[in-house]
Amino acid sequence: MTKIIELLNVGKNYRRGNEEIHALSDVSLEARTGQFLAIVGPSGSGKTTLLQQIGCVDLPTSGRILIDGEDVTKLSDSQLTHFRSRTIGFVFQRFFLLPTLTALENVKLPCVFTKHNAHQTKADELLKHLGLGDRLHHRPSQLSGGEMQRVAIARALVNQPRILLADEPTGNLDSSSAHSIISIFRELNESGLTVLMVTHNMELASMAQQILYLKDGRITKVE
Ligand SMILES: Nc1ncnc2c1ncn2[C@@H]1O[C@H](COP(=O)(O)OP(=O)(O)O)[C@@H](O)[C@H]1O
Ligand SMILES: [Mg+2]
Repeated sequence: MTKIIELLNVGKNYRRGNEEIHALSDVSLEARTGQFLAIVGPSGSGKTTLLQQIGCVDLPTSGRILIDGEDVTKLSDSQLTHFRSRTIGFVFQRFFLLPTLTALENVKLPCVFTKHNAHQTKADELLKHLGLGDRLHHRPSQLSGGEMQRVAIARALVNQPRILLADEPTGNLDSSSAHSIISIFRELNESGLTVLMVTHNMELASMAQQILYLKDGRITKVE
């Protein structure tokens, strides 16, 4: 299988006043198309920073990042935004749904920016596929946590990304909703999507094919 993600000696520093924070140091990793990777590590170890670099939200201070063969560290801001919207889907712990929009409107929202009109029907299809056929016109406040996260997953998938990045996606969910979210990731992964998930929960991490351990901005173990 081909490499879809490759990081070569990636470093990311943040500046806070006079202090330089080494959030990532010399991180090299690769993922093949269709892999399901979990990233674990203590709070502050650089997990979110790592997903942001892979997700083209931000560029690293040093090193190279190849996504789908493209050296994203060479792209301009607008090229990076375009590349991200076509290639990457993001899911977050706090869902980030817009409270005034219905489930269906939330899922269609990314199509507005990418002008993928054809994918608007996809929104409906995705929500139904994720078991939310009877929730299309509900607002987030009328949904459970697990349902909100399923809406967020549908939103992440509506532009048909090749990579799904999830940052502690089950952190706000009870254990049964958490398991159903992981089952969705596994099913998506089995149909070819590459999935990277940050989690604190070792039981959920062990459902991925490979676990990367981060500590102090470095990968300390892969198993
Ligand atoms: N925008 C930022 N500005 C300054 N420091 C940051 C910023 N984002 C993260 N950090 C710091 O970088 C380190 C890694 O943070 P983060 O990637 O959020 O870790 P994790 O997700 O594993 O908790 C921490 O020391 C954090 O305080
Ligand atoms: Mg984090």
